[in-house]
Amino acid sequence: TASTRLANRHLLVTAGGTREPLDPVRYIGNRSSGKMGVAIVKAALAAGAKVTLIAGSVQVALPIHPRLTVQRVTTTAEMLAAAQAAFPTVDAVVMAAAVADFRPATISDQKIKKQAGQEAFTVQLVKNPDILATLGAKKTTQVIMGFAAETNDLLAHAKEKLAKKHADYIVANDVSQAGSGFGVATDQVTILTPDQAPQAWPLLTKQEVGHRLVALLAARLAK
Ligand code: C5P
Repeated sequence: TASTRLANRHLLVTAGGTREPLDPVRYIGNRSSGKMGVAIVKAALAAGAKVTLIAGSVQVALPIHPRLTVQRVTTTAEMLAAAQAAFPTVDAVVMAAAVADFRPATISDQKIKKQAGQEAFTVQLVKNPDILATLGAKKTTQVIMGFAAETNDLLAHAKEKLAKKHADYIVANDVSQAGSGFGVATDQVTILTPDQAPQAWPLLTKQEVGHRLVALLAARLAK
């Protein structure tokens, strides 16, 4: 039945945005609300799965459930460490988090002060590890689903990510479209897999997208 399709399966979900500190009071972050990731967690729980949620900064309430373990993280490095620790024991990974691509090269241990007459301030950033690609390169039996939020050339970028990150699914989302992407309750997504033509889904609530994505994973894991 629908409620037991993922019984005895363990899903790892990342959700929300990472924050990269500059000093004790400032960080570089992004507009991710965590809505999509939390919708997937709820759908997976409803389908009977055990779920590990690694949550960065989220603007939605996190569910409480006996089959759910929540780990809160702030930075990309923390999210990577938590994801790597959980990875060997899970059947599928859904990386819905908006991860900072770069972080400040140094973190000041004191609040950075503006200097008298200072008109500009430069921050040097260094590349963050790609969590999805790191797990993708190490996968054994895990099914891996990633996201691609783009404002242009959506399908080309998503296709590239599918290959480069060794993902089994990329959920592509044009965040420049009204009603799709960061903060809103709905999404129009296109599903890419290595062996099929892209499937464009209609505009749906994130809750409905979550249920459909979980159904895809359940069907795949049942094979
Ligand atoms: O390359 P891009 O950031 O567009 O890829 C998006 C996908 O990769 C999302 O699934 C996101 O969670 C994941 N990602 C990641 N680690 C990063 C950057 C992105 O896991 N450093």
